[in-house]
Amino acid sequence: MVGKAIYPDLKDKVVVVTGGADGIGRAVAAMFARQQAHVFVADINEKGGAELEQQVAKEGGRCTFVKTDVTSLEAVAALAARVKEAGSLGVLVNVAGGFPTYTKASTIETSPEDWDRGVRLNLYSVFYCCRALIPLMDKGGSVINITSNAARKAETHAPRYYSTSKAAVQHLTKVLAFELAPAIRVNSVAPGTTLSDRVKRAATPERMENLIKQVPRRKLADPDEIGSAILFLASEEAAHITGITLDVSGGQVML
Ligand SMILES: NC(=O)c1ccc[n+]([C@@H]2O[C@H](COP(=O)([O-])OP(=O)(O)OC[C@H]3O[C@@H](n4cnc5c(N)ncnc54)[C@H](O)[C@@H]3O)[C@@H](O)[C@H]2O)c1
Repeated sequence: MVGKAIYPDLKDKVVVVTGGADGIGRAVAAMFARQQAHVFVADINEKGGAELEQQVAKEGGRCTFVKTDVTSLEAVAALAARVKEAGSLGVLVNVAGGFPTYTKASTIETSPEDWDRGVRLNLYSVFYCCRALIPLMDKGGSVINITSNAARKAETHAPRYYSTSKAAVQHLTKVLAFELAPAIRVNSVAPGTTLSDRVKRAATPERMENLIKQVPRRKLADPDEIGSAILFLASEEAAHITGITLDVSGGQVML
């Protein structure tokens, strides 16, 4: 059953989840809280952050929302100062990402402004958070970056800045894993199309049918299925795994 695994070593760990106020990040933050970790959620969405804090408190867990724009060096530095007060950081999950502007333009037709905003959100944010938060980790720390199935493809419905940035994050994952071994592990998870509320809202029934046809397992991922892979990589069960990208795509990665 998805999301039911128990990882005793995650208990009392300090965990940061960026983009945790909605979608995949929200599911991930709630799952870490159910492992009795102390979760810090860094997001610009105050309403979603407050709702999640309440939901986790009701379930008896610990969740602290810190309003953070992960494309701002100052905001990320302020986040790091808050997290430091809680002690050594155990796990950093960089989830925040997406399409600041949705464009189907080819690469050379993409405006420099759209490119800049997209790369800032999907690549710079990961660099900023790793730079500020990894120094708070002791030996045994784990970083998990969320990329995308789109990082593997030249032809994708996603904006070109998005697939390019996510591919760069997969490379950054390897570079960091190499630099930080053996003390800290760094891995990526690449989701296929995932049923976050945003995707549910955006897809017409016809589009949903088309999306499902593109998945060999004939279903879109649930956010919890992405969370299960992240929890596993964060846990000691994955102690010898570093520098990889784990595809959680129901087989979309093969196409
Ligand atoms: N849903 C999918 O089909 C899918 C597939 C592959 C990869 N992904 C990746 O998974 C991650 C989450 O996707 P999702 O569908 O859950 O997205 P979502 O839009 O539902 O959630 C993204 C969260 O990031 C936050 N965010 C946006 N900009 C931010 C900023 N500057 N600073 C801090 N927080 C910010 C949003 O407020 C939101 O809470 C993204 O990195 C996305 O690229 C999603």
